[in-house]
Order: sequence, then C-alpha cells, then structure tokens
Amino acid sequence: MHPSLISQPNPLESELPPLPAGVTIEQVYADMMRYLMDNTQKYFEKSSPKGEVIWARVRDTIVIVLVTPNAWDIREQSRLRLAAIRASLVTEENAGHLLQFVAESEASVHYALVNHPGDWLQKNTVFAVIDCGGSTVDTAVYHCVSATPVSLSETCPSERVQTGGIFVNREVKKMLNNKLRGSAFNVPDIIKSMVDAFEKDVKPKFDGIRDRYDLKFGVIRDNGLRVGIERGRIALSNEDLKPAFDVVTDKVCKDCSEVLPGQKTEYVLLVGGFGDSPYMQKVLSEKLRAYHMELITVEDRG
Ligand SMILES: Nc1ncnc2c1ncn2[C@@H]1O[C@H](COP(=O)(O)OP(=O)(O)OP(=O)(O)O)[C@@H](O)[C@H]1O
Ligand SMILES: [Mg+2]
Repeated sequence: MHPSLISQPNPLESELPPLPAGVTIEQVYADMMRYLMDNTQKYFEKSSPKGEVIWARVRDTIVIVLVTPNAWDIREQSRLRLAAIRASLVTEENAGHLLQFVAESEASVHYALVNHPGDWLQKNTVFAVIDCGGSTVDTAVYHCVSATPVSLSETCPSERVQTGGIFVNREVKKMLNNKLRGSAFNVPDIIKSMVDAFEKDVKPKFDGIRDRYDLKFGVIRDNGLRVGIERGRIALSNEDLKPAFDVVTDKVCKDCSEVLPGQKTEYVLLVGGFGDSPYMQKVLSEKLRAYHMELITVEDRG
C-alpha cells in the first residue's frame, strides 16, 4: 500500500492556509528549487577558489538528487520533474539522466553511514529506519542486498503515523492551560512564550529522569508562587512533562512492536528532529531491547 500523499487527506490540512489564488503547487516547488539552486551557486562561487569558473564548467552536468517522502511514486516524481524543469535546474532533454530521486529513509541511511560509520550494515542485515519528524513518524524496513556499494530493498511497505514533535508542544500547551487556570498567567501571549521556551530549551533536554525543569519565559517581576512561577521562570516537574512526550513515544513504540519483530529486524536507525530527543531515544531503546533489537542514533545532524 503506497498511497499517493499528494491526494491523501491530511489531518493537519485545516491548520495550513490555502495557497494564494492563482498559485499552483508546481509554482511553489519551482520557486523553492530556484531559490535553493541560486543560493547554492552563490555560496559555491564565494567559498571555492575559482568558484565562478568551476561552476560555469560543471553547471550543465550537475546531477540533482531530490529526496521525497517514502511513499511517493512516479506520479509525484513527475510533478517534481516538471517543477525542476520550470526552475531551470534541468532541461526537458537532460532531466532523464541529471534528475534523480531517493526516498527520505534511504537517504538517511547514506547520511548515517557517512557520518557514523559502523559495522552494523552488512549483507543480509535487516534494519528499520524510523524518521521521527514534526508531524509524522515514518517507518521503513530494509534488507541489505549489498553493503558496498549500498543496495537496499524494502521488506514491506513503509508505515506512516500521524505523530511527532509538534504533538508534544500541543500537549505541553494544554498542560500549561490546566496548571495556570485561574491565574493571571493564563493568557495566550504568555502561554505562547512558555511553549516557545519549552521548544527551545526544555524539549531537547528532557530525558524523563530529572525531577525539575525550569522554563524561562518572562521577566524578573513575573512571580506567581501558587503556580510555581518565580522571577520569570516556571518550574515544571517530570510528571508535568512526561505525559506530553508519552503521547508520541507510546505511538512510536506501539507501531514498532507491531511491525518490526515480524520482519526479523536487527537494528533500528532513529532519525528526524524528534529522534534527537533524549527521552525518545531512551524509551525506544528500552522497548527495542525487549525484542533483541539495537537502536542506532544519528546525532549532530547538519
Ligand atoms: N534535539 C531535539 N530534541 C527534541 N526534539 C527536537 C530536537 N530537535 C528537533 N526537535 C523536534 O523535531 C521536530 C522537527 O523534526 P524534523 O525537522 O525532522 O521535522 P520535519 O521533517 O519538518 O517534519 P515531518 O517529517 O513530520 O514532515 C520539531 O517538533 C522539533 O521540536
Ligand atoms: Mg521529515
């Protein structure tokens, strides 16, 4: 089952504003591609010796690899191909060999191998890639056909679960609304600055182990001892925050235990922004250990 994501109803769609009248999705893709290429060129010309000369020499032979969501297929690729031609990344004539596509999960494997080489990927290894993003978590399971050069085949259709980092922020917002009910701090602007501070300072640190996490959201004169606010900081406990993270980690763990053991998965490569969460890593590695699978993390992403 590889649904076309362009036509699939998206539960978050109601939160996205519609495109301006007369602007098509192809136009948006083409503008974005042109912008990326123009800036790549500027950066290359500025930062490489003889950059302008080299760029002019290689420009017409640059192979462009577009990374797409796992389930995207020929239909989506052909729309991206049109956009790439419209953006002058490639031409009608040379797109066939200069424009290539790779699924996100497969691209993550190459990234992990370059930045964190190890001996986990061998011929016949079965491993999963879990991409924990903002609003979706994608799981793909691969059989390694060859390790050098890397050649992978999917053992089953990839799974997509509607969950991820932004769902944690939503739960934190609800928790703050409840905690601050009846206090002068329960106003949208203040709650927003608390959630922003959570995103920046606490979310990347939360490991579910420490007792207390301080969120600095305001100024020294912000005090409300009854609700744990002192000098612009609100003290949050593990019990305040853990349920917000568990909304996501529970779903990911459930999906893993349903899909991975049946595929005889040995390793799980965790990628994506929320995959950097120490709590996500801790909970998932414990869950996987029970199934004799090993978690591989890829920190310090570019
Ligand atoms: N170090 C970190 N710890 C915890 N969460 C993090 C960390 N870094 C990023 N995130 C969270 O990861 C999410 C974004 O991840 P990512 O960039 O992979 O998403 P995306 O690819 O844009 O989304 P999607 O794949 O769902 O379309 C955000 O919710 C962000 O708060
Ligand atoms: Mg993503």
